[in-house]
Amino acid sequence: MTKQQTLQANSVQELAAYLIDPDIKIEHEANIIDRLHEVFSELAIVSGFDGEEGWKHDVQTSSGMAIGVNEAARCLLDYRRTGQFFRGLYAAIREAKRLFPKETIKVLYAGCGPYAPFLTLIAPQFLPGEVVFSLIEINGESLEIAKALVAEFGLQDYLQDTFLADATLLQVPAAKDYHILFTETMDTALEREPMVPILLNLLPQLRPNVLVLPRNVTIEGVFFSHSELPNGIDILWELTSTIPGHSIGTVMDMAEALETYLDLEEKDGIFHELQCELPPQEYRDFFALYTTVEVWEGIFLYKNESDITDLRVRDLKDLPPCDYINFEYLLGEELELLFGVS
Ligand SMILES: C[S@@+](CC[C@H](N)C(=O)[O-])C[C@H]1O[C@@H](n2cnc3c(N)ncnc32)[C@H](O)[C@@H]1O
Repeated sequence: MTKQQTLQANSVQELAAYLIDPDIKIEHEANIIDRLHEVFSELAIVSGFDGEEGWKHDVQTSSGMAIGVNEAARCLLDYRRTGQFFRGLYAAIREAKRLFPKETIKVLYAGCGPYAPFLTLIAPQFLPGEVVFSLIEINGESLEIAKALVAEFGLQDYLQDTFLADATLLQVPAAKDYHILFTETMDTALEREPMVPILLNLLPQLRPNVLVLPRNVTIEGVFFSHSELPNGIDILWELTSTIPGHSIGTVMDMAEALETYLDLEEKDGIFHELQCELPPQEYRDFFALYTTVEVWEGIFLYKNESDITDLRVRDLKDLPPCDYINFEYLLGEELELLFGVS
């Protein structure tokens, strides 16, 4: 490594170490991540905002879309997401070290993007030999850039394997050796991106007590009346908003649905379905989906705290006479929690 590279690697390790603090102030977290992004964009030549035409394009997976190089790079700047996933994986590696003393902890990282931030930021917080990562990435350019970045930072000792593959289909060699499965391949309400099919493919291959991050994603359904939102729906995006609406509770619990679906003998592509009673008529003006991600024990991303927990709201004008709202999450090219009334 050149002297300049050593300096940059040290500064990344030191900056990232600030993210370990669970009480880090939001502004400090954003500032640290902005500075990390500056180093990454300089070394990786990808900022997420310009570059080659091909970096803009998504890739179709067997089920769901993998986002392109630029969008994957920009995920780093989803500050709260990056901070909480960093703290979650850091805590999970420590827990795995406790559960499996004297073993090198093996992390299977599905969907690393061009910065592989949960390797490049976390590995240097541990000694070589304490933890190793294997990367799976469907986008060849992202994977090449991630490998180059690992080399630039002198982190090769932490990199076990790389797989240029669709994680919804890959058969992982020596899969039972991994202690941790890490993937952040989701969008809000589990739409578009393939985290569910990735977990459905990888989980049965791994050891039964593998530690999985995120631990869960839940989606709550909440109805609102016009009278609660006299100035429109924008207020629902304010983090301090306390308008209760009428909750119909959790309409999808990913961990529960995964367990149920994996137990099915005949997998029919219907990952989840649910029927709920509609609330009283006066609440049937707007319907919102609140996404919560449980990254690790005690480490959550709540609605509107990140792009992956962004609120989804639908204006329900002209609803026909009905009693129930029905939800369905189907596996296939387009992933979305669909709903309709009956
Ligand atoms: C949301 S980005 C996250 C990137 C990076 N891990 C981070 O957190 O900043 C998801 C990444 O997963 C990759 N990906 C999505 N679906 C995939 C699949 N089926 N197989 C392998 N990689 C996938 C995308 O190409 C993208 O690079």
